Amino acid sequence: MVQNKGTPKVLVIHGPNLNMLGKREPEIYGATTLEAINSYLKELGEKLELEVEFFQSNHEGAIVEKIQKAAQQQNGLIINPAAYTHTSIAIRDALLLLDIPVIEVHLSNIYKREPFRHKSMISDVVTAQITGFGAQGYTMALEALGAMIKP
Ligand code: DQA
Repeated sequence: MVQNKGTPKVLVIHGPNLNMLGKREPEIYGATTLEAINSYLKELGEKLELEVEFFQSNHEGAIVEKIQKAAQQQNGLIINPAAYTHTSIAIRDALLLLDIPVIEVHLSNIYKREPFRHKSMISDVVTAQITGFGAQGYTMALEALGAMIKP
């Protein structure tokens, strides 16, 4: 974990297909684009005195590498691994390298959907999970993280 010299840092990782938010199954994921979510979080971060960085990738290995780097660079992590939630032992293993709070976010309520979405490979290694609140889930996650990591 980085020492808290100055503003605490939070990384937000968005997994595959979340770059298509707004166009992608809006009845499930809502009409808000990823750009709008990120810009709202950036603003909220300023209010909460948190430095917020964003990363979206459609590639499992790229997400793993970003998590590995977060161990040295970040004070908190928000992650929506999207479909990798249900499959990725590699992302789970990478999260186990971290000793910072990690919030798992899902726009939809994964437990109300198809049975294959009910299992999260990371839920038992994260600090908390927020699922089913739409884009607002990210706001809740950032506020909760801020309360956990601010000196
Ligand atoms: C998701 C839920 C996943 O099952 C799905 O594959 C996603 C998005 C969510 O935010 O609701 O891509 O993580």
